[in-house]
Amino acid sequence: MSATAAPSQRLLNRVAIVAGSCQGLERGICLQFHLEGALLICADLRPNGLPGEEPTHEVIQKQGRRAIFKVDVSDSKQVQAMIAQAVEEYGALHMLVKNNAGICGEATAAKPIDEADEDIFDLHMMISVKGPFMGPKYALRQMKKQEPIGRGDRGWIINLSSIVTSAGMRGLHKCHHPSYEIREAH
Ligand SMILES: NC(=O)c1ccc[n+]([C@@H]2O[C@H](COP(=O)([O-])OP(=O)(O)OC[C@H]3O[C@@H](n4cnc5c(N)ncnc54)[C@H](O)[C@@H]3O)[C@@H](O)[C@H]2O)c1
Repeated sequence: MSATAAPSQRLLNRVAIVAGSCQGLERGICLQFHLEGALLICADLRPNGLPGEEPTHEVIQKQGRRAIFKVDVSDSKQVQAMIAQAVEEYGALHMLVKNNAGICGEATAAKPIDEADEDIFDLHMMISVKGPFMGPKYALRQMKKQEPIGRGDRGWIINLSSIVTSAGMRGLHKCHHPSYEIREAH
């Protein structure tokens, strides 16, 4: 009989904000960080994810701290307040993950460019282009105030990408929503 390995504690007491934490990849990242000892702020537009799944922040809150922050990552004031919340709750910010939350309207409703909606384009620019600018902008201000940790870093900013950036995909033409390409170039 093989024993299940205990999760590593390499993130013990590292403070992490994960944006878009309700569902998908960011939920998985949140839960794994939690297992590895990180102190989390689960940030999203909404508190609950997919039906049948225990909300991410409720799993995390079992550590006894406030772990949820309602944020629209395209709103500068909300992004600043999210970072302030991490510092107020845990005293530092070591990791910012997925600072653009990530949307891709094309994936479910692809349209040729002559039929594409301008408001959908604007939404992608705000979330997927301005979001990845503002997250690091305000996270870095905080990280630069902190003493170096580990091998000398003051923190880490992790932004997710996609193979679509380099390989392309039918219906996800870069000319439809250049924000997708810009976002994934970060
Ligand atoms: N799912 C995949 O197979 C895959 C593969 C490669 C790359 N990616 C990339 O990973 C990222 C996330 O993908 P996913 O499939 O996990 O996404 P998802 O759609 O499952 O989850 C996105 C989350 O972001 C939240 N969100 C949306 N707009 C927001 C905003 N303005 N402010 C705060 N939160 C907001 C949503 O509520 C949701 O919880 C994207 O950048 C995507 O391009 C995904």
